[in-house]
Amino acid sequence: MSTFVLKGNFCFSKNQTELTTKENAYLVCEEGVCKGVYEELPEKYKSLPCHDYGEKLIIPGLIDLHVHAPQYTFRGLGMDLELIDWLNTHTFKEEAKYANLDYAERAYEIFVDDLMKSATTRACIFGTIHNEATLKLMEMLEDRGVKGYVGKVNMDRNSPEELCEESDSLSAQKTIEWIEEARNRFHKIKPILTPRFIPTCSDELMKKLESIQEKYHLPVQSHLSENIGEIEWVQELCPTTKFYGEAYNKFGMFGNKYPAIMAHCVHSTEAELELIAKQNVFVAHCPQSNTNLSSGVAPIRKYFNKGIKMGLGSDVAGGFDLSIFRAMADALQVSKLRWRLLDTNFTPLKLEEAFYLATKGGGQFFGKVGSFEEGYEFDAVVLDDSSFRTMRKLSVKERIERLIYLANDTCVVDKYIAGENVK
Ligand code: GUN
Ligand code: FE
Repeated sequence: MSTFVLKGNFCFSKNQTELTTKENAYLVCEEGVCKGVYEELPEKYKSLPCHDYGEKLIIPGLIDLHVHAPQYTFRGLGMDLELIDWLNTHTFKEEAKYANLDYAERAYEIFVDDLMKSATTRACIFGTIHNEATLKLMEMLEDRGVKGYVGKVNMDRNSPEELCEESDSLSAQKTIEWIEEARNRFHKIKPILTPRFIPTCSDELMKKLESIQEKYHLPVQSHLSENIGEIEWVQELCPTTKFYGEAYNKFGMFGNKYPAIMAHCVHSTEAELELIAKQNVFVAHCPQSNTNLSSGVAPIRKYFNKGIKMGLGSDVAGGFDLSIFRAMADALQVSKLRWRLLDTNFTPLKLEEAFYLATKGGGQFFGKVGSFEEGYEFDAVVLDDSSFRTMRKLSVKERIERLIYLANDTCVVDKYIAGENVK
C-alpha cells in the first residue's frame, strides 16, 4: 500500500448539509488512509510523490449500497411491469442462467468492466443462488481492487424451479460452503448474507441463516417494503407480524447486533421506521428503480429527520444505470415531485444531501469511508469535466453540481480504492 499526495480541486461532505471544497489543494494518502486536505502541503509531506491533476476535480469514491450484478446485462429492458411481474417475467429467468459458470463468467466480466469505469469504489452486491458463479464474481472484483460485499442469494420458495433451492437445508449448506471458501480466498470482497426477500425465503431457511449469522458474524442485505403488492403478500405469508421488517427482525436480521442494509423502504410504516432507526438498519434508497418499477417514492426527508442511516443504490436492473451520479440526480428529482404532488410536509432534498448519501452516508456501512477527512480510507475518483463547455466561470461546487446532473461516469480519469490506483 502506498503513500503519496494528490493535487487538484477537492469536494467532500463535511456533514449532511455542508460540502467542503478546496481549490488547488493537496490530499495526503498514508498507507491507504487519508491524512487530510491542505491548501499548503506541510513540510513533512513534501518529499512524497505528488500527482498533480491540475484543473480536475477529486471527490470521494461513490458508494452503491444495492446492486444486482447478474441483472446488469439486461439493464434498460423490460421495465413496463411492477416488481413481482418483473421478477417473474424477466429477472428470475436471467438469474437462472448463472447455473452455467461459463455464461456467468462472460456476463460478470461485462458488469465488472463497467463498474471499474464508473465513479463507484465500493458496493454491496447481490449475486445469484449459485455458489460457483458468485465466487467467480467475487474473484473478479477482488482482482480489480474493488472493496465491498457480495452475497450468494438464498431462495427456497415462491421461485421458478430453475431458480429455487431444493430445501432450506440445502440452501443453508451451500451458504456455509460459500462463506468458508470466500473467507479463505478474498480479503477486499467479503461475504454478506443475502436472503432475497421474505416471499422467497421460508421461516425454516431464515432460522438457519440466523444460526449462520451467529457463527460467522456476517452483515445482511435484503429488500424491504418496496411495492404495495409485495407488502400485502408478506402480510399473508407472515400473518403474525405487524409489519414487513418484523419478518426479518424475528430472525435477528434487522440490524442491532449485525449490520443490515434494506433496499427501498418506499412504503415503510411508522412502526417499521422506528425499528429501522433504533436498530441502525441502513436504508438503500434506489430512486431510479422505484420509478422504473412504479414502486413509489421513499420519503427520504422524513428518514433524515428520524436520523436513519442511508445511502444510494443503483438497484440495477430495476435501475437501468450503474451511475451513482445518476442516482443522486434521480434522488433529487423524485424528492421534488414527491413534495409537489404528494406531501408538502417533506421538503425536497438538497444537492449537499444527495452528495452526502452517495459518499459519507452510504460509506458509513463500510467503516470510515466516503470522506477525505483524516482517518478515512483513501477512496478517491478524479474527474475531468472539461468537455462540458460553458460561458461561465464555475466554482468547484458548481462543477460538482453540473457533474451530478450531466455525468454518465465517462468523466472518471483515475480511481483509488484504499490507496490503490485501480483504473
Ligand atoms: N425484490 C426481490 N428481488 C428483487 C430484485 O431483484 N430487485 C428488486 N428491485 N426488488 C427485489
Ligand atoms: Fe434490488
